[in-house]
Amino acid sequence: MLKIYFARSGVLFVAYGLIKNIMNIRESRNTDINAIQDLHEEAFGEPEGKVIAQLVGDIFEDETAKPLLSLIVEANDEIVGNIIFSSLNVEGHPNVSAYILAPLAICSQYQRQGWGMKLINTGLEKLKDNDADIVLVLGDPNYYQRSGFSTGHHLQPPYPLEYPDAWMALELKPGTLIKAKGMVHCASALSSAEYW
Ligand SMILES: CC(C)(COP(=O)(O)OP(=O)(O)OC[C@H]1O[C@@H](n2cnc3c(N)ncnc32)[C@H](O)[C@@H]1OP(=O)(O)O)[C@@H](O)C(=O)NCCC(=O)NCCS
Repeated sequence: MLKIYFARSGVLFVAYGLIKNIMNIRESRNTDINAIQDLHEEAFGEPEGKVIAQLVGDIFEDETAKPLLSLIVEANDEIVGNIIFSSLNVEGHPNVSAYILAPLAICSQYQRQGWGMKLINTGLEKLKDNDADIVLVLGDPNYYQRSGFSTGHHLQPPYPLEYPDAWMALELKPGTLIKAKGMVHCASALSSAEYW
């Protein structure tokens, strides 16, 4: 009887260990970059995937994108999700610490399980801890509004937009969005018109 109990406990212990290790969010390392690019290529699909994978490589190499926050979702040591926040400048407000969220991807096998939202919210918490003021995004309003992004701001994108409602901001420090008005200047890697 005791043997069966210990055998069962052992199986449960191993199973718990596996489950516990299944999904994990952490900051990415330089050695993760190739896997992150592969993930974006898969998640965005043809033909956009290759363009985004290249963009990701460019952002990591771009000094003007720094400080940069890149988080990944790992599933059993495989990278299945990534979000990048890169630094940007707001014209006329050199003391405002602002970031743009781009890109974000969860590999197709793990989509619609809440990981995209967890990456966004974990990133926002980390940026807040680092005293960031504002985060901007150009994306699906229905999705990003769930994390508090809105069009209630006066920050102009670098190019005229086809869908202005997709240009959203979120303040991490109350009051910053009322004060910060003007054109934003993103990192060089993100400044090409094709991304807007
Ligand atoms: C967009 C993306 C990051 C969302 O990540 P996710 O982990 O699947 O999303 P979550 O589980 O956090 O949230 C799920 C919600 O996102 C939206 N969503 C997710 N995938 C979607 C898709 N393919 N089409 C439309 N809406 C989608 C839906 O509103 C969904 O809610 P629902 O399941 O109740 O309908 C992911 O689908 C992805 O990587 N897509 C390809 C790359 C991409 O488009 N990136 C966005 C750049 S702005």
